Amino acid sequence: MNRRAFLGWGAAGFVALCSGVAVSLAAVVRYLVPSVFYEPPQSFKIGDPADFPFGPPTFLPDEKIFVFRDREKGFAVASAVCTHLGCTVAYFQSDQRFHCPCHGSVFGPNGTVQHGPAPRALNWFEITQARDGQLLVDKDKVVPPSYRLMV
Ligand code: FES
Repeated sequence: MNRRAFLGWGAAGFVALCSGVAVSLAAVVRYLVPSVFYEPPQSFKIGDPADFPFGPPTFLPDEKIFVFRDREKGFAVASAVCTHLGCTVAYFQSDQRFHCPCHGSVFGPNGTVQHGPAPRALNWFEITQARDGQLLVDKDKVVPPSYRLMV
């Protein structure tokens, strides 16, 4: 082996060594950074009661909820997340049911499954009134569909 070939193999070896060290360092850094999903808060204010009309529910797309307001029964909040694979359902006032556009699940007025493949009913969440008068929804607190807040 002449001197030029020797230096060529040495340079290739050095590059391979540096690449190995870089990959190892990247693995160590990745190990030290926690794999955590940062979710938005599950309890949030949605506004004043007067912001919500009587009649068809108000859909809040960012929160993926429907806010129902009834003169006699008060407020109720339903999840807009389909229990099959998580698509956003739509509410049709014409038949007062929730329809999932992805695979055709249909939920009744109280969220029960009327047509699959959804395995279970839509969730209903606790709604309360905060001290400042705004409505407060807590998606960590699942309540029965009959739960209502009278304001
Ligand atoms: S995600 Fe709703 S039916 Fe599949």
